[in-house]
Amino acid sequence: MRPEKTPPGSSQLGTSPPVPHHPELDAPPPAASPAMIMSALAAPPIHPSAQAAAPPELTVVVPCYNERPNIAPLIAKLDAALTGIAWEVLFVDDDSPDGTAAEARRIAAHDPRVRCIRRIGRRGLASAVIEGALASSAQYLAVMDGDLQHDETRLPAMLAALRGGDCNLAVASRHVAGGDAAGLGPRWRHALSDGGIHVAQRLLPVRLSDPLSGFFMLPRELFERLAPSLTGQGFKILLDIVLSAPAGLRVTEIPSRFRERAAGKSKLDVLVLAQFAGLLLDKLLGGVVPLRFIAFAAVGALGVLVNLAVLTVALKLGQVPFASAETAATVLAMVFNFVLNNEITYRDQRLRHTPLWRGLVLFMLVCGLGAAAGIGIARALYSEHTAWSLAGATGAVIAVVWNYAVSATLVWRAR
Ligand code: GDD
Ligand code: MN
Repeated sequence: MRPEKTPPGSSQLGTSPPVPHHPELDAPPPAASPAMIMSALAAPPIHPSAQAAAPPELTVVVPCYNERPNIAPLIAKLDAALTGIAWEVLFVDDDSPDGTAAEARRIAAHDPRVRCIRRIGRRGLASAVIEGALASSAQYLAVMDGDLQHDETRLPAMLAALRGGDCNLAVASRHVAGGDAAGLGPRWRHALSDGGIHVAQRLLPVRLSDPLSGFFMLPRELFERLAPSLTGQGFKILLDIVLSAPAGLRVTEIPSRFRERAAGKSKLDVLVLAQFAGLLLDKLLGGVVPLRFIAFAAVGALGVLVNLAVLTVALKLGQVPFASAETAATVLAMVFNFVLNNEITYRDQRLRHTPLWRGLVLFMLVCGLGAAAGIGIARALYSEHTAWSLAGATGAVIAVVWNYAVSATLVWRAR
């Protein structure tokens, strides 16, 4: 390390008694001479705690949502597993209602190796990992779940593989000899995971036995280079990295077992599958068509189907007059689109509680205009002897296109 200039009159390490933790609280500040100010500007003094602690070589980025009971045990496990390594852990919490961030900060108050980013109005594992990784200055980055399911004792082996320089991506794999996925849980989770792995492997430029692993390590500098091309959507951050990596990715797989979740519950559900499909589609299309637009189009198409289904039932079974049937079908398709867009398209900024209802009301109000136009056109077409299905579909499409524009700018506008 570069020797630091010391302001004249200040104590030298080794010749002075131990530095108190908060000297500014114990003694009045000494009067500063112009010379002292100049020399302080030239070389800012290092805070005593920074002198003691080596800068971390490894940042363990831990995305977490409602993991409060797992925070302290995870830090203890890292402490035990990483002896001899200068490490820090960076929790990225999406404002969990259970107070995960507060728990991390409670420990961070007396342990400088613990840091926390609290994100507000955002959700998403992949984007949390990206933000955490970009807040690190360490040479290596590890990504690890915050629920104790990943075996932290594998971290030194992963770091050793990277330090050796033989690889620039170390992946903890459940599907190589010595690995184990038993903790994944029910059979459907295994089937889902196996299916996903199969699809992913066909698209991957490198051989990976466990491309859905959420536990891996790489040099920060490599991550920084890839960061601008990551989609940041959904759960599959490793897949995102591998698909975005230019040639030259050298992967080592480290066998790892996947433990059962002790506390809290999994946030991975069936909708994650839709996001997974979206990520693959995005990569296949080379990122030309925005992922959100694809989701919008898919939801819109389903909305048209709902509209037509309701119209069919109302006309054929309920003998409802066309105008009322078309109105009911449009309103139902609108609610359907709102819910689906909130759950899938805008999953990362999902509206909940009061904002959800406000969003729905806003959506209905502004879209009422689009719906009125849609209904008007459908009626006009129907009275011109256009088939009821074509008239209905035209009206629905007009209303749905309007919904796109409105939701992007007004309902889910980024904070
Ligand atoms: N910040 C943030 N925001 N963290 C999140 C979010 C979110 O929206 N959703 C989940 N997490 C955190 C969880 O708190 C946990 O620490 C980690 O991400 C993994 O989430 P789980 O809900 O425990 O996922 P899982 O155990 O079902 O899935 C794991 O295994 C899969 C393999 O089958 C993850 O590691 C996946 O990435 C992996 O593919
Ligand atoms: Mn988990």
